[in-house]
Amino acid sequence: MITLHENYLDEPFAEEAKEVMGQNLSLLDQVSKGEEKYRDSLGWLNVSQWADEDHLQRIQALADKVRKNADAFVLIGVGGSNNAARSVIEALKTKGNPEIIYAGNTLSSNALNRMLSSLEGRSVYIDCIAKNFETLEPGASFRILRKYLEDTYGEKDAAERIIATGTKGSSLEQLCRDNGYEFLEFPEDIGGRYTAISNVGLLPMAVAGIDIRAVARGAAEIEARLKKDCTPDNPAYRYACIRNAAFRHGYRVEVLSSFEPQLRWFYKWWQQLFAESEGKDGKGLFPSCCEFSEDLHSVGQFIQSGTHVLLETFLTVKEGQSSLVIHDDGKKDYFDYLNGMDFKDINRIDFEATIQAHSKDLPCLNVEMERLDAFGFGELFYFFQYACYISAEILGVNPFDQPGVEAYKARLFAELGKE
Ligand code: PA5
Repeated sequence: MITLHENYLDEPFAEEAKEVMGQNLSLLDQVSKGEEKYRDSLGWLNVSQWADEDHLQRIQALADKVRKNADAFVLIGVGGSNNAARSVIEALKTKGNPEIIYAGNTLSSNALNRMLSSLEGRSVYIDCIAKNFETLEPGASFRILRKYLEDTYGEKDAAERIIATGTKGSSLEQLCRDNGYEFLEFPEDIGGRYTAISNVGLLPMAVAGIDIRAVARGAAEIEARLKKDCTPDNPAYRYACIRNAAFRHGYRVEVLSSFEPQLRWFYKWWQQLFAESEGKDGKGLFPSCCEFSEDLHSVGQFIQSGTHVLLETFLTVKEGQSSLVIHDDGKKDYFDYLNGMDFKDINRIDFEATIQAHSKDLPCLNVEMERLDAFGFGELFYFFQYACYISAEILGVNPFDQPGVEAYKARLFAELGKE
């Protein structure tokens, strides 16, 4: 269950948001059905389309095969082909599962050499995930890793350790056919950043031992709730309207702030989702992230008292925090006010103190998830994707393309001599 708390918005701003909510209500019905103009990009809107029991069984079976033999599993992918899986894996990973190692997201030879060194002496499997198998980073890393596997295991055994996730009919599928690699389908009708609940996000999660059925269930449950509610109470709609009210008001940055370091990699997923979906035609809030309480001692200064450009969205977790009590050790360190207190309460009190302080100077809201678990991540992915679709529609931009990304790519390819 995701709850949106708006009680820290001040009266005039809440009124502006209410106005936006009144103006765009007809969008909700259109979005819940999926608009015809985006037909080719809405495969994620019905969770069951790419994550029904059949898909989940196939993904789990392949993951189990890998898990039996692998110590390390290299996820080769960048942006939408990497961020969703990584955010869940890095938050929920436990011992006794293959370690997930990331490649295909950098061109740094230092980083790539370190990644290769970390594979030494381990049983390695890889998954190259790319919708458009022209993206430089995953393509280049895939080459290096294929060579590593072939040098280590010989060509035949290496082929057994290679999986690729690409669109049907792509050159990546052909490469798999030619060389006997396992091929998984990258949904043609979903853009990278919306693919969390599909082969793209779920296979690496399953290899890492994450309960992918729970992820899919979380997404499906919130899908049903959001689609059923075409009223101004719909939390994804309210969030989208508040963001747009902030933009109209002149705010230019949205900071996603959390007191839970386990969400560190989720920030990257969220940031990509909103940046690529909304940052076009000279519009959009720049999505930024803060890891509290650490960042309160750095950028906290700017948030409280700097240029008035920020909307702050807190992401909090309601339940399930583990306990760690501070004991009195009888030594004089002037921290006795903490005697007997639990970190889980101190962290919550820090959140409350922070939102009270920040909301005096900027609009603040709180997206609260019930628990930080696989189900909760499924909910988060769907909630923000749905909200992002609505938000971009209100803003008047296409949520599913990313033309700006192509500008640098064209120059880079020309410099590298690509035909
Ligand atoms: O959301 C998107 O479409 C992009 O961010 C892509 O995920 C990213 O560019 C990686 O693309 P590809 O999977 O084609 O290599």
